[in-house]
Amino acid sequence: MRYSDVTPKEIYLNRRRFLATALALPIPAAAATLTAAKTAFNATGEKITPQKITTTYNNYYEFGTGKDEPAKNAPKWKPTSPWTVRIEGEVMQPKTLDLDRILKLAPLEERIYRHRCVEAWSIVVPWIGIPLSALLNQVKPTSKGKFVAFESFYDPQQMLSPRKAGIEFPYVEGLRLDEAMHPLALLTVGMYGETLLNQNGAPLRMVIPWKYGFKSIKSIVRIRFSEQQPPTTWNKSWPAAYGFFSNVNPNHDHPSWDQKEEQRLGEGGLFSAKIVKTQMFNGYGDQVSKLYTGLDLNRNY
Ligand code: MTE
Repeated sequence: MRYSDVTPKEIYLNRRRFLATALALPIPAAAATLTAAKTAFNATGEKITPQKITTTYNNYYEFGTGKDEPAKNAPKWKPTSPWTVRIEGEVMQPKTLDLDRILKLAPLEERIYRHRCVEAWSIVVPWIGIPLSALLNQVKPTSKGKFVAFESFYDPQQMLSPRKAGIEFPYVEGLRLDEAMHPLALLTVGMYGETLLNQNGAPLRMVIPWKYGFKSIKSIVRIRFSEQQPPTTWNKSWPAAYGFFSNVNPNHDHPSWDQKEEQRLGEGGLFSAKIVKTQMFNGYGDQVSKLYTGLDLNRNY
């Protein structure tokens, strides 16, 4: 079943038009051309999670540690304009690109991905973005460029202190270069046919669908190529629970709970949450398992 089979035709066409129009317009203007479908299904028949849920139940510790806090606190923040991303480290020539430039690197695409949080809940979201590889291809790594590190925006005046949040800031994440270049890795600027809201990581975030949600770092300002595996925020805070790879893996338990099942937010009733079986690599194994051939995924969690 294709997405177009279950989406009313005019909405589908509208989206296609949005994706085409968006190439020529800044995202906010492009988003205004769209009346997005609020409910539909992904290719495997899973229901897209209502936008109301994915924009009000968030993890963005810079804006609060409660799930409802980012939606309350983040809207006050004005992302710097123009938003720039610095690419540096083990590259032939470091570069700074602004968002307009980044949006022209590849056609915007809509990707409906399962998003599985390490806390055992999941959502299905129609993201809008470009392949991360399109941005990384703007620089040439040196022979030492084996990993890619990402850093979020941080302003202590407008965001929580590390002490209050309980994790270090700026938030940092990392991938092996081959993982970062995988076509599923999406550099994301929108969702549900609209520009990203601050609580979802505006103006530019990662979405790595085969890994736990915390790898999908928000509001990215810096990308650094490195020879060594870079430090990552949750790994620093509790290494036994949060590994560098953090591939979704129902066979590897978190120290405090198992990862065999997940609650699909927005489905089921108040007293009958919909529980689904967690899939290896979040169901994207046919596309990504070859990245990990020969790697012991229980040790390299
Ligand atoms: N990025 C930053 N900068 N700060 C954060 O606290 N939380 C992560 C990830 N990216 C986080 C972040 C976690 S734990 C998850 S589950 C996802 O963002 C949540 O994304 P969502 O709120 O859009 O669902």
